[in-house]
Amino acid sequence: MSDLNQLINQARDEFLNCSKLADLDHIKAKFLGKTGPITEAMKALSTLPVEERPQKGAEINQIKNQIEDLLNARKKEIADHELNQKLENEKIDVTLPSRPQDKGSLHPVMKTIEDISQIFHSIGFDVTDGPEIEDDFHNFTALNIPESHPARAMHDTFYVNKEYVLRTHTSPVQVRHMEENKPPIQIISPGRVYRVDSDATHSPMFHQIEGLMVNEEVNFANLKGIVQSFLQCFFEDEKLTIRFRPSYFPFTEPSAEIDMSWNGGWLEIGGCGMIHPNVLKHVKIDPSQYQGFAFGLGVERLTMLKYGVNDLRHFFNHDLRFLEQFR
Ligand code: DAH
Repeated sequence: MSDLNQLINQARDEFLNCSKLADLDHIKAKFLGKTGPITEAMKALSTLPVEERPQKGAEINQIKNQIEDLLNARKKEIADHELNQKLENEKIDVTLPSRPQDKGSLHPVMKTIEDISQIFHSIGFDVTDGPEIEDDFHNFTALNIPESHPARAMHDTFYVNKEYVLRTHTSPVQVRHMEENKPPIQIISPGRVYRVDSDATHSPMFHQIEGLMVNEEVNFANLKGIVQSFLQCFFEDEKLTIRFRPSYFPFTEPSAEIDMSWNGGWLEIGGCGMIHPNVLKHVKIDPSQYQGFAFGLGVERLTMLKYGVNDLRHFFNHDLRFLEQFR
């Protein structure tokens, strides 16, 4: 019997030395399994005199229970420990600062378009747009550039097919807008345009802003005043002046290039003129009753001047070091 009492101590030691739940099962088998000392002792009961068996049996059972208690206690200890360790390892410190998030920003060209739109909006111009894949009629014919007109050669056109082109300017939006709306009309239309041209100062895709005003009494002086006021606002320079240089566009008469005062000289920033009567006729507006002006500005040019960018290609290289400066 003292051998069996020894067992309790022995089991306790082995349980304590064990630190894994899986190993604990092996140790359990060793003490309580089919061939273990407890089972053996139970079997040996039959060799005892009958009257001794109940008491002896009870003693063995008690030892067995004690070992089982020790086992369960240890099991719980190990499980608790493993859980704690898991919790410890997976601990998240919710008070840590988050990783910095990179915030995007408007592309400088888009920022210019937004600024320009806001300025014109504040003096009553709506902002509209039109398709970048444009039909021949709206890009050319309705703008008084019929087929075989030499002015078509001024535009190095990307043809989609015989009928459609990538619009070479934003002027077709004038036509589309006047087809759908009656005067009075005051709109600007910013957007992408395309020409077969690529070097340090030309990109095959660039941006223009078209302006259009049609009413019963709209004149060249209005045009000049509005363009100059706009530029003064955009460049935040009340002293900025412009001059009109005589020019030719098929869709305006008279036509002018717009030059802006800059560093003691002049810089060309767009074209303009009074809408040609033929254009008004194409959109069924009576030129004897209505007149209007139109202008087209280069957005990249304005952006380069405003921010001192010296190479057009910076806008299209997607270099974050450049773009992040416009945050
Ligand atoms: N569409 C012309 C171009 O791309 C620019 C332009 C000139 C637009 C005169 C106008 C205008 O509306 O009146 O070169």
